[in-house]
Amino acid sequence: MATLTFLGHATWALETKGTTVLIDPFLTGNTQAPPGAAELRPAFIIVTHAHGDHYGDTAELAKRTGATVIANFEIVNYAQKQGVANVHALHIGGGHTFPFGRVKLTPAFHGSAFPDGAYGGMPAGILLEVEGKRVYDAGDTAVFSDMRLIGEGGLDVAMLPIGDNFTMGPEDAALAAKFLGARTILPQHYNTWPLIAQDPQAFKRRVESSTESRVQVLKPGDTFEIR
Ligand code: NI
Ligand code: MN
Repeated sequence: MATLTFLGHATWALETKGTTVLIDPFLTGNTQAPPGAAELRPAFIIVTHAHGDHYGDTAELAKRTGATVIANFEIVNYAQKQGVANVHALHIGGGHTFPFGRVKLTPAFHGSAFPDGAYGGMPAGILLEVEGKRVYDAGDTAVFSDMRLIGEGGLDVAMLPIGDNFTMGPEDAALAAKFLGARTILPQHYNTWPLIAQDPQAFKRRVESSTESRVQVLKPGDTFEIR
């Protein structure tokens, strides 16, 4: 069974059949990263967009472990310039089947410049198909009605930002949950800093009283089994 371990903020470790896939590996500076997160040995790293709290430790991790970086064309080019050897470029609407599963980039409404100002292309969400399960990570985004399309094939899990200020807040994330129709919602991108402080239990009550979805609130270090 594939699992998702929450590493704080919007960082996830997907484990499937002995392979570790890190999503948005923001470890240095992540106030929520559990101890030991930096010791992970990912075979793949997926990056939604270029902001420092998502691209994060991608280059260092990939260089240390030989992991393949999967992201849009602009981000993998940047990673290559930083010395990353193994990359796979995708772009919005495009998917590819990797040994661990299928990855498709979906639209996100946000920015995507690197901390040094370099252009990071369009920000993305990620649609994953792993062990027959469908997982959607919205990345950083506003709510948008085309989330209905993303949910059309059925979703087992959706990771949604709820922090407000930089992304959708709890109210809009509850609307996103309605559009997506995922069986389980995992909130992310909140309480890392005071500016994005939220009560995830209040979000849980809001979603569970207005949709069929269940919300699982994970503490950093907690693992969710994708059943
Ligand atoms: Ni961002
Ligand atoms: Mn962010």
